[in-house]
Amino acid sequence: MCGIVGYLGKRRAYDILIQGLHRLEYRGYDSSGVAMIAEDGELNIYKSKGKVEALEHYAQNKDLSGAVGIAHTRWATHGEPNDINAHPHFSQSRNLALVHNGTIENYTVLKEALIRHGYEFISETDTEVAVHLIEYIMHKNNCSLFDAVKEATKRIIGAYAIAVIDRNNPDQIIAARQSSPLVIGVGDGEFFLASDATPIIEYTNKVVYLNDGEIAVINRGKELKVYDSKSTSESEIHITELQMSIEELEKGGYPHFMLKEIFEQPRTLADCISGRISADGKSVVLSGVVEHKEKFLGANRIIIVACGTSWHAALIGKQLIEDFCRIPVEVEYASEFRYRNPVVTDKDVLIALSQSGETADTLAALELAKSHGAFVFGICNVIGSSIPRATHSGCYIHVGPEIGVASTKAFTGQVTVLAMMALLIGQMKGLVSEETLQTVASDIRRIPTLIKDIFKLNDKIQDLAKIFTYAHNFLYLGRGYNYPSALEGALKLKEISYIHAEGYPAAEMKHGTIALIDNDMPSVVIAIKDKVYEKTINNIQQVKARGGKVVAIITEGDTIVSEMADYVLEVPQISECLTPLLTAIPLQLLAYYIAVNKGRNVDQPRNLAKSVTVE
Ligand code: M6R
Repeated sequence: MCGIVGYLGKRRAYDILIQGLHRLEYRGYDSSGVAMIAEDGELNIYKSKGKVEALEHYAQNKDLSGAVGIAHTRWATHGEPNDINAHPHFSQSRNLALVHNGTIENYTVLKEALIRHGYEFISETDTEVAVHLIEYIMHKNNCSLFDAVKEATKRIIGAYAIAVIDRNNPDQIIAARQSSPLVIGVGDGEFFLASDATPIIEYTNKVVYLNDGEIAVINRGKELKVYDSKSTSESEIHITELQMSIEELEKGGYPHFMLKEIFEQPRTLADCISGRISADGKSVVLSGVVEHKEKFLGANRIIIVACGTSWHAALIGKQLIEDFCRIPVEVEYASEFRYRNPVVTDKDVLIALSQSGETADTLAALELAKSHGAFVFGICNVIGSSIPRATHSGCYIHVGPEIGVASTKAFTGQVTVLAMMALLIGQMKGLVSEETLQTVASDIRRIPTLIKDIFKLNDKIQDLAKIFTYAHNFLYLGRGYNYPSALEGALKLKEISYIHAEGYPAAEMKHGTIALIDNDMPSVVIAIKDKVYEKTINNIQQVKARGGKVVAIITEGDTIVSEMADYVLEVPQISECLTPLLTAIPLQLLAYYIAVNKGRNVDQPRNLAKSVTVE
């Protein structure tokens, strides 16, 4: 939610900031802006509603000079998306400019106090209080920008990653973080700052992840300094070498990141599996689990907290873990869990499942469980993000950067990791036989090849999408392992095409939802040959009897459903517990092509952002 970028060095800051904003645009695209201290000493701030392109258009022919600057791409929380509410915000004297990712919870109290001190606010944002507060402290205490930021962070309640520049000191950026991510790239005589590493990787692979409560002082020609905001102590700096490549951040010839990411899945899942299943298929190795074996074996239950697509993957994880490990699993919306008074003990294991590793609700839910003594385990994609850093242990899904706002390859990566975990824990508990492990593990290894086969459906799905582009509502039905697949299929369609879609357990439909079915309400039914296959056939007949159109995802060679459904998409046979990894692919492609036909902005759908770092 919102992305911030900063640069201090020897190049023209504007170019780096704009390129960085493009990389971070997936985090929010309501407005964007840049602030640079120009060669003549002016603090130039250019902002524009809409995407970064609009900002570039606005800024052309303006003074874009200066080798220090900060920038922001916004997902609006306080105040509508317009030029005034866009960041950077400037202080009353117009000497300071500040960008912020997060939310300031006590902004009304701070604002009232600042108004009493004569400060005027021009925007509706919570952020503007931060820049006025810092300037107020600088004047009142006659102190440096660093000291003022440090003092301000004590008074601000909420989540923030901020970067501030001062027109009177073009050789410095001060940045601070609390619950919102911030990464600093260390180049040769230059520094880069961003909400994640993607704007930095093309300049340097050396980064420092700021921790909560830390303030960074970036000075031209000097070493990076990081301080703990609550003490006077200087923090030790750990430089991490990034493994990411620039190609992973480009579309690679595809029209959209989402399509690229769908088609990448054979490779990303091969990466996810790599080194984790032994060559003979007899064992699974996930060091984060093995090293904490006693926690999993002694767990009374496992709680998985997640949001959105990750929550759907968690529902599949529940079935996998319960099937193979016989440990009760509860799946919770992180946003609900954190505000209930959940019963959590030191006998519980909590898994925080998140692609970005930054989702605010998931992070808060894991902190809550940790405070109750639970062992917390993270399954994330973004390396070095906040969740992996807050957990006791975990494992990455290793599917590479996911840029499209709609999650695709992360979903299959999460399910794959959960399947491997369930096998491993089940084996450690003595509940999974060598034979079962070998069968399922070798099926996991076949998944990349099978997905490649499913891509042969691409043209058929494109044609199908044409038929259904103008539907106003969709029903997605599934059972067992594929009930969460139905939820996920519906979410994919909703978020990128803006067509209303509802995912439902197929058998529940007759308790109410069936009333919606008519000729105009297509149903996508996942009807593969699993243990509830016959029951699902009944559900298809119930839809057909009411004039509903059925698109069925079936197991290869199934003639029964083929004759019943209006359209079928075949996926290969595989162990039942892994079928969601295959059924996900046609569902993703169907949503994609319908959205493209409707002319939607597939990678950046309206109102959404990739990582939801606010509540
Ligand atoms: O980064 P996370 O996995 O924690 O994100 C959770 C959701 O915000 C995310 O899955 C969202 O629902 C996607 N737009 C789904 O495509």
